[in-house]
Amino acid sequence: MCGIVGYVGSQSALEVVMAGLKRLEYRGYDSAGVAVLADGGLAAAKRAGKLVNLEKELVDRPLPTGSTGIGHTRWATHGGPTDANAHPHLDNAGRVAVVHNGIIENFALLRAELAERGHELSSDTDTEVVAHLLAEEFSGCADLAEAMRLVCRRLEGAFTLVAVDSDEPDVVVGARRNSPLVVGVGEGEAFLASDVAAFIAHTRSAIELGQDQVVELRRDGVTVTGFDGQPAEVRPYNVDWDAEAAEKGGYDYFMLKEIAEQPKAVADTLLGRIDAAGNLTLDEVRISAAELREMDKVVIVACGTAFHSGLIAKYAIEHWTRIPCEVELASEFRYRDPILDAQTLVIAISQSGETMDTLMALRHAREQGAKVLAICNTNGSTIPRESDAVLYTHAGPEVAVASTKAFLTQLVACYLVALYLGQVRGTKWGDEIRAVIRDLSRIGGAVERVLETMEPVRALARSLAGKDTVLFLGRHVGYPVALEGALKLKELAYMHAEGFAAGELKHGPIALIEEDLPVVVVVPSPRGRSLLHDKIVSNIQEIRARGARTIVIAEEGDEAVEAYADHLIRIPVTPTLLQPLVATVPLQVFACELATARGNEVDQPRNLAKSVTVE
Ligand code: AGP
Repeated sequence: MCGIVGYVGSQSALEVVMAGLKRLEYRGYDSAGVAVLADGGLAAAKRAGKLVNLEKELVDRPLPTGSTGIGHTRWATHGGPTDANAHPHLDNAGRVAVVHNGIIENFALLRAELAERGHELSSDTDTEVVAHLLAEEFSGCADLAEAMRLVCRRLEGAFTLVAVDSDEPDVVVGARRNSPLVVGVGEGEAFLASDVAAFIAHTRSAIELGQDQVVELRRDGVTVTGFDGQPAEVRPYNVDWDAEAAEKGGYDYFMLKEIAEQPKAVADTLLGRIDAAGNLTLDEVRISAAELREMDKVVIVACGTAFHSGLIAKYAIEHWTRIPCEVELASEFRYRDPILDAQTLVIAISQSGETMDTLMALRHAREQGAKVLAICNTNGSTIPRESDAVLYTHAGPEVAVASTKAFLTQLVACYLVALYLGQVRGTKWGDEIRAVIRDLSRIGGAVERVLETMEPVRALARSLAGKDTVLFLGRHVGYPVALEGALKLKELAYMHAEGFAAGELKHGPIALIEEDLPVVVVVPSPRGRSLLHDKIVSNIQEIRARGARTIVIAEEGDEAVEAYADHLIRIPVTPTLLQPLVATVPLQVFACELATARGNEVDQPRNLAKSVTVE
């Protein structure tokens, strides 16, 4: 989604803001702009397209040097990605500039009222009304912060706003409702940004802003109030990601780096959560064991890849705890009038912690009295802040839009929650749970082994660059893995890709099978649930008999599949429920390599944003 940067201090505001916007490019955008206060006035530049277009504009028409400024990368919602619709937006006198992330739902009415009062608006955006409203209010206010509070009280919807006014040359003012905004506090300087990546090169001291708050930045400090003007409690924290961690580390793409980081991300997510006796210690989960014992239903809400981790969690939760578990697309959840009460545990899974669909789903759940546990990768983000408890994944910054290490750590966190529920509630699977905890603590090594054998997968992907369809099949926990493999290929290679439960083939999808059609099949372990294994081997025979090119992901030692696999990808032997942790990795590598072979932009695929902060 949109990226926002604000700066006040002694450095060149333009340099700080432009560097910050570059660090936010991963959020996905289609135009960019900056505004600087200098020489008693305000100067702005904005261009459709990538930052390189704005940089060219700034060379052709340089802005004056100033030490206060704001910047924005826009992901178009109201109004197309044009120069006129790019942010910042200014009032008619050119003294106020504002940038925005979110949607102002009552902008049409506000726009009509402004026009009646003689304001001339020049864009199709909802944001522009704010510049004009701020100019109006500021003319009768003590300062820009007060004007911002008055304007925010008139806005409806989700918005993060950052503004400057040439009458207050050393001040940047921000406001947030729903969309993310974080403050960076430096020595004699201060920053505002959509996320910490924009300023961690300068400072790691951050302040998370809460709902309906206005922040005023000056060189010598930061003031935070509610929209009502009352001083607000703030929560400073130290950002433990350093600038290096968010760089590519020698890889061509952030995605490749993040795939390679998975063993460490998995191990880091387990750190401190398994004690010496092999028991789980999830003290950070601020829902008591007594409350967890009262739960009679679990509902998981999430989107995209996070939804797929929830589908896998369902198998683990129901098996180990015998509590019924529903998994819902967050965007559908609250519209189906779900049955929720105080005995329902809702688990909201989100890498960014800002996905609006998931945020709205958890708000609905809390209104219905359910307890909400967030599984999230971003400290200080909105979803954990609005949940009763949070279990953080420790994947580190995930910059590539296509989620990889966040997915694997979401799985680890889901397994931990399932095992913890089993542990505190007591379950007949006590011995199995202890064995699985032991296996989990070793799974990082298994992922490492998979990563060491990926060259044939990359070669296979390159050989399929000319294909336009790939199907994915799986059974049991392999079915959500098939869905995730298909999503990766869609969002990276822009190919038609679809995941099916293998048992569904005969109910329709087998009609799709034709000569040389690539079909990836995720095969469950032949141990334990051999019936499941034998059925999917039959499925492989059925599609091969109809001409499919079978790409089989199967455990080391599974000989039954060898006769029917045109391409065989081996994964380490793991307990059935944990197999997604190793079976997903080849599918990530496959999609990334195929996208590269097709010349696609891997880290920021077309039309996509890293965090979808609008519904
Ligand atoms: C995953 O590759 C996608 N980028 C997307 O489906 C993502 O998982 C989804 O938008 C949810 O994001 P979140 O985890 O930040 O809530």
